Amino acid sequence: MKLITLQTKNTTYQMGINEMGFLLHLYYGPRAEGDMSFLLAPADRGFSGNPYEAGDDRTFSADYFPLEYPCYGNGDFRSPAFNVRDSRGVFGADLRFKDFAKKSGKYSIPGLPAVYADEEEAYTAEIVLTDERLGLEVTLRYGVLPALDVITRSTVLCNRGKQTVYLNKVFSACIDFLNGNYELLHFFGRHTMERNLERIPVIYGNQKFGSRRGMSSHQHNPFFILADEETTEEHGSCYGMAFLYSGNFSFEAEKDQFGQTRFQMGVLDEMFDYPLKPGEEFYSPETALAYTADGLERLSHIYHELIRAHVCRGRYRNATRPILANNWEATYFDFDGDKIIEIARQAAELGIELFVLDDGWFGKRNTDYSGLGDWTVNEEKLGGPLLRISRAVNDMGMKFGLWIEPEMVNEDSSLYREHPDWAFVIPGKRPVRCRSQLVLDFSRKEVVDYIFDSIAKVIDSANVEYIKMDMNRSICDVFTVVEGYQNFGKIMYEYVLGVYDFLERLNQRYPDMLIEGCAGGGGRFDMGMLYYTPQIWCSDDTDAIERIRIQHGTSYCYPPETMGSHVSAVPNHQTGRCVDLKTRGIVAMAGTFGYELDLNLLTEEEKEVVRDQIRIYKKDEKLVRSGDYYRLHTPGKDTEAAAWAFVSKDKRKVVLSIVTLDQHGNAPTDYVRLRGIKPDAVYQCGETGGLHSGAALMHVGYPVPSVMGEYKAWQFHFTEQ
Ligand code: GLA
Repeated sequence: MKLITLQTKNTTYQMGINEMGFLLHLYYGPRAEGDMSFLLAPADRGFSGNPYEAGDDRTFSADYFPLEYPCYGNGDFRSPAFNVRDSRGVFGADLRFKDFAKKSGKYSIPGLPAVYADEEEAYTAEIVLTDERLGLEVTLRYGVLPALDVITRSTVLCNRGKQTVYLNKVFSACIDFLNGNYELLHFFGRHTMERNLERIPVIYGNQKFGSRRGMSSHQHNPFFILADEETTEEHGSCYGMAFLYSGNFSFEAEKDQFGQTRFQMGVLDEMFDYPLKPGEEFYSPETALAYTADGLERLSHIYHELIRAHVCRGRYRNATRPILANNWEATYFDFDGDKIIEIARQAAELGIELFVLDDGWFGKRNTDYSGLGDWTVNEEKLGGPLLRISRAVNDMGMKFGLWIEPEMVNEDSSLYREHPDWAFVIPGKRPVRCRSQLVLDFSRKEVVDYIFDSIAKVIDSANVEYIKMDMNRSICDVFTVVEGYQNFGKIMYEYVLGVYDFLERLNQRYPDMLIEGCAGGGGRFDMGMLYYTPQIWCSDDTDAIERIRIQHGTSYCYPPETMGSHVSAVPNHQTGRCVDLKTRGIVAMAGTFGYELDLNLLTEEEKEVVRDQIRIYKKDEKLVRSGDYYRLHTPGKDTEAAAWAFVSKDKRKVVLSIVTLDQHGNAPTDYVRLRGIKPDAVYQCGETGGLHSGAALMHVGYPVPSVMGEYKAWQFHFTEQ
């Protein structure tokens, strides 16, 4: 059997081409040498058909052999990674091997985000499969980053035939495992409670997760882990699959009739019907795969490193993120220019570095019923042009930032009155409204052009150095009114390309701009967005206790500095809960730090606490941004206290954060065991002056102080002596 082997430092990925040209998946796991085809177990199995050319030999069937890119139509009845129909409605394909090439460097994908790497850091493998009947060429692309143990995958379709074909499923990656009882870790949620972890067994049948909301969604994050039953944070085998895409997606885990597991991901196939004319190409978005034998913590560190060095781009990728104050929870829509300047003045006085003017500065936007689409400054409300505000903020020594929501339109707006056909509305059907807004058809270039130009005009009118790019509804009523338009099954994919085009233009035109992603908080928290925006507002829930859970779940894939995290007022606006300012600060410091409340309402004593928090975060920011993050206690699971730590790469510095979640009378002492530090070193605690053995901190742990009261929090800074 001809073999194709991809090696990384600690992993091996091997495929084989059999005599009939089927591309088989042979192995993905710990680094191994040699030919893995001995793992295959040919047998004559009932109701599992055989390729015609096998003749009387019934021991090979696509129905149970592990396939690299399974398609419907060649005898595999598991869920396929690929499906296509011709113009008469004949479904399926029969993909066979044609060609293979390897080159140095990492491929990129036109119009889509992709992992990037220097020429010597990565190589690309390309395997070409063809379907003779349809004249289709399917190229599987693999980007291998050996040092990081990451392999990316993406698929390119080219129609070399004579007729238009309709792509119904083009997944980006699929892995067939021959055996094993796996567990699936997935991250579910809702608006204001994103990325809760659920760990479930992979069962017989097909388990599917994903989004049909037009965005990656609050409900299911496009990141999944397949782990052995015994895998923990510190030990055991696990695979990650992350999607660099921000639209409709699907992930499937399927245990087949013989206990084999298929694990695959791609653009949602429901309602996907992409016409590919002769000579045309289609690019699937990219998935990033990783494997480790060293537990979930190591898997997270691989993804954190990948995102930091190979996904995020631009000036802020490795730069200090400014501490910001945002006026949303301070004022909502109820502000004028003077009130904004007053809040900004207090922010500057406390040491904040960036002031962000949120929703409500444009058009007729004093509630969320109107104004979206009209990207002209409401000078009456602001008491003058935007420059007046940005100048005032700059004069106070801070940068100035602005909120936008380019993809949306309110019916009560000049834009909608002028171009009602630019919004997704199906003729003859009243559209579904959400937050009283409709969605602009970003699959149309003239719509993106118009919105980009009007927003750029505003940015150019003042000194805007930060943009918060929001998106506040799920998408339905997909319809486009371009004349002669025949097929709607590709619009949601092209919509996402339009959003990426907008973001790319923003990045190109303003290379020094810090862009923060947002979709009602964390509704589009994915690696696709992180390619354009190095930080994302993690959730609209700013309650510190809820945030511990949200940030914990988010950390499995995404590094802490990608999570926008702010101190807000109490009682909290989402839950009504009251938590100490100190605790709110410690939780917010586990991300890109900021404040989101009227700072003028703080007492003098609270202002002192804020000054202190800012001083501490400035000192720790680099460690948050570049250190290793450890989930020490799972909130609500291991003990009564949540705990996490940042450890510098050289293991000399540690910031340990602890928050109590429950209180009991005469309670036993809780200990937090540190990880990732040097057992043979002695660390001094900055807060107590105490000297502690690394081994003891790891083996027994640091005792959680016993105090009265709810939701108490501590930060301990340890430095190697
Ligand atoms: C979304 C965001 C919030 C805020 C509002 C403004 O909900 O997540 O932070 O910007 O929109 O309308």
